[in-house]
Amino acid sequence: MNYYLTQDTTQTGILTMGGLDVVSLVKRFGTPLYLMDEAHIRHQCQWFTREFKHPQLETEVIYASKAFLPIAMAQLVAQEGLSLDVVSGGELYTAMQAQFPMEKIYFHGNNKSKEELQLLLDAGVGTLVLDNAFELDRLVSLLQPQHQLKVLLRVNPGIEAHTHEYIATTKNNSKFGLSVFDPETLNVIAAIAAVPQLTFLGLHSHIGSQIFEAASFDQHASAIMAYVNTIHQTLGLEVQAINLGGGFGVRYTADDQPLEGADYLHTMLESIVRAAQTYQLKHPKVMIEPGRAIVANAGITLYEVGNAKTTHAQKRYCFVDGSMADHIRTALYQARYTGILANRVHDAHEHPYTVTGKACESGDIIIKETLLPHPQPGDVLAVFSTGAYHYSMASHYNRLPKPPVVFVRDGKAKVVVERERFDDLTRFDVKDAL
Ligand SMILES: Cc1ncc(COP(=O)(O)O)c(C=O)c1O
Repeated sequence: MNYYLTQDTTQTGILTMGGLDVVSLVKRFGTPLYLMDEAHIRHQCQWFTREFKHPQLETEVIYASKAFLPIAMAQLVAQEGLSLDVVSGGELYTAMQAQFPMEKIYFHGNNKSKEELQLLLDAGVGTLVLDNAFELDRLVSLLQPQHQLKVLLRVNPGIEAHTHEYIATTKNNSKFGLSVFDPETLNVIAAIAAVPQLTFLGLHSHIGSQIFEAASFDQHASAIMAYVNTIHQTLGLEVQAINLGGGFGVRYTADDQPLEGADYLHTMLESIVRAAQTYQLKHPKVMIEPGRAIVANAGITLYEVGNAKTTHAQKRYCFVDGSMADHIRTALYQARYTGILANRVHDAHEHPYTVTGKACESGDIIIKETLLPHPQPGDVLAVFSTGAYHYSMASHYNRLPKPPVVFVRDGKAKVVVERERFDDLTRFDVKDAL
């Protein structure tokens, strides 16, 4: 049924991860619990580094840290030799705390504050992904003679990947970047190139997330190369690098059909080489920014079952001790998940249940429908594929403390983020304000 149902599981009937049975991990660390398979994350980093290669191209893999970025993750990414995409002062600060090499940071965002721009200049961040002309003016106002910064301009080539509307980012009305169809975009590029402290490195574009069609990546690469040619023809500027973003889809449920193998990466690189030949351009360096594909399948969330309820209209609910505060993607994107009773793996999972949490919202759904044995209070429910955009999107709604994150590998468990306590929730409340 799932990657984590290992040999040990078959013998004991208890789900294992990283060589450890998750029920004993729950006894040790409590619930809700984000559990991450460190070996799986490292495997994904190594896979992208190995496969995103072409004999005629220089390539770079950048981890999109918005998917999941405790300090330990930034350290792991540095150890695996990937670069890092950050999108806020907070993500940059986390990378700094992890001693991540600043020249390998790409700083994104459609509305960087003055403080964030100052921070990235002071920290020596290697590359800024510029969103618009206003931001360029704001950046220039902060530049000192000693500053040196590479700049990618985020452009919008109008490719629509088949994905959920909220996570498709390059439609012509996207809030991100500048359109390749707008003549003004070329003026912004010329303006970047004219600033002595800035190096116009090239273009960035990201067409959406959870993409399952190889053709989308291919079309994207071709559209960007066509614009590289336009820049060369009109401005005489050579684009040194193109960053094609992330969006590589993963399996959440059996219905998802992610791209198998690495052919889609090779095809994408091949179409860049072909376009360079057609337009007689120098080969640009090519970058990608996977987030979800590195961490999503490495994670599970473990909950304790509090109760089960069958409504008057015969709908079955399984109540767990988490909520939309630690699992927002179902409410936000109607994302689908599967779950299993981790202490009863061998029991027939045949009854449809809606898994819901303890938040005071009827939209507090963790899994809209999954097959389970009839759950009993004290059972442990595991939700699969929660490694991306779960911990990073967690909130304190209903004043619920955030769960800890534990990495498991080779029979050892390491806490990488501690469980929050009630006093963490009131830490910033001013008690004598009135
Ligand atoms: C600019 C950019 N790069 C990379 C990513 C990572 O996308 P994914 O996690 O789907 O690979 C995102 C996600 O929103 C993004 O906005």
